[in-house]
Amino acid sequence: MEIRPGRAPLRSLSAKLLALTVLFVLLAEVLIFIPSVSTMRLRWLNDRLSAAAAAGIVIDALQPADLPEAARNETLMAAGARAIALRRQGQSQLLAATPIDQPIAGVFNLAETEPLSAMGEALKTLLFGGDRLIRAYGPVGDSRMIIDMVLDETALREAMLVYSRNVALLSVLISLITSTLIFFAIDRLMIRRIRRLTLNMQQFAREPASPASVLQPDAGEDELSLAGRHLSAMQKELQETLSQQKTLAELGLAVSKINHDMRNVLATAQLLSDRLADIDDPMVKTFAPKLVRTLDRAVGYTSEVLAYGQMADAVPRRSLFALQPLVLEVRDNLGLEADGAIRFVETLDPGLMIDADSEQLFRVLHNLCRNAHQALLSLPDRSGEITVSARRDGQAVILFVDDTGPGMPEKARQNLFRAFKGTARTGGTGLGLAIARDLVLAHGGSIELDSKEERGTRFRLRIPDRPAAIKA
Ligand SMILES: Nc1ncnc2c1ncn2[C@@H]1O[C@H](COP(=O)(O)OP(=O)(O)OP(=O)(O)O)[C@@H](O)[C@H]1O
Ligand SMILES: [Mg+2]
Repeated sequence: MEIRPGRAPLRSLSAKLLALTVLFVLLAEVLIFIPSVSTMRLRWLNDRLSAAAAAGIVIDALQPADLPEAARNETLMAAGARAIALRRQGQSQLLAATPIDQPIAGVFNLAETEPLSAMGEALKTLLFGGDRLIRAYGPVGDSRMIIDMVLDETALREAMLVYSRNVALLSVLISLITSTLIFFAIDRLMIRRIRRLTLNMQQFAREPASPASVLQPDAGEDELSLAGRHLSAMQKELQETLSQQKTLAELGLAVSKINHDMRNVLATAQLLSDRLADIDDPMVKTFAPKLVRTLDRAVGYTSEVLAYGQMADAVPRRSLFALQPLVLEVRDNLGLEADGAIRFVETLDPGLMIDADSEQLFRVLHNLCRNAHQALLSLPDRSGEITVSARRDGQAVILFVDDTGPGMPEKARQNLFRAFKGTARTGGTGLGLAIARDLVLAHGGSIELDSKEERGTRFRLRIPDRPAAIKA
């Protein structure tokens, strides 16, 4: 699969990280915003109180006659208040006032503010404030006087809105700067290196055999360096395996070719050797059968090796046919009879049909019966019985190949069905059972060594029908 970095820039890791950073910084700014706007509000109110107090104290020092009422009020109202009073020693003195025609929405003691409630009040001002009247009071500097004023919230809210806008702009600026820095840092630390790994994987997939495709890992200690080193080691291992497999495959091909031609040569020799039997010489009569048997074995050997090489594409060509004639053919092919020293017994229902590739099933049964035959021949009295039985079991046929031989040797048992490994017999190639099993598996079936109480060996096979084949 071709992976193209940068094909979908919006979905790249860098873009996601960039978006997340902006989001998180903004989130942090929002969290900081509420306390800071609340502080700003308190400061603003305090400033107003101080301004009013300064003006109030000066006016208070003058005699009323020096300053007309109107001028007095104006001076004080310049501090943004609707009414101002000064309290000292328990006495309250109204310094200035304009008519107040609406209820006071909140009273705040600036000397004692609770952070949480101050934040709540700040939010209220921002959301609902604007034309409310509020009252605030607090000490004048370090003196024991208390200045108390009623004021419009409008100016406060406007100041808070300006402040909020500035904070918002600043937040965006900070988040952009932060995310850009983080972006470059992550790009340098991670993204580029991940991209390099990805590109290397693609390159390796294209040319797995080339030594230039192996990643040159960096010497760092972080996770990506570690991943790079692992990848590089894996690639080297893979290359070794590949080159081994290539050698093996080439060898296999060469063996198959030689084998193929060898089989033809041997077949000719076999034809010629058959004619030896006609020669009336006692010497020839003794050696001819041995020669024929050896040649037979050689031909069999080459055929099996060839067949094994072609196993991969042996897709069963299945049909529904009667099992009994096939088993009899196996018997004849092995030169066995129902009443020889080695008896071949089949207890098959002539009507039993099986859904399989007849050629492949022949090879399976032939291999199993040949093994049984060889096992019986290895007994001192060279006699015994081979039994082939079968029955239908729903959508499958169960077959048994049973013999009264010496039983499976331990070595063969341990490497059962493993090509070239399983043989425990001189002259055996160890392919028979492996071939049988591969063919049975290609039918979707199973083959196993059955346990048996009496002496001998029994194989159990299960060949399932193709779905719906039997109905047809
Ligand atoms: N019926 C049996 N009784 C006793 N031993 C058996 C029987 N069938 C197989 N074996 C043992 O299992 C081994 C593996 O059998 P397999 O058919 O795979 O190989 P092989 O007969 O040695 O060689 P090939 O069949 O390729 O010529 C045999 O060498 C034999 O020792
Ligand atoms: Mg065999």
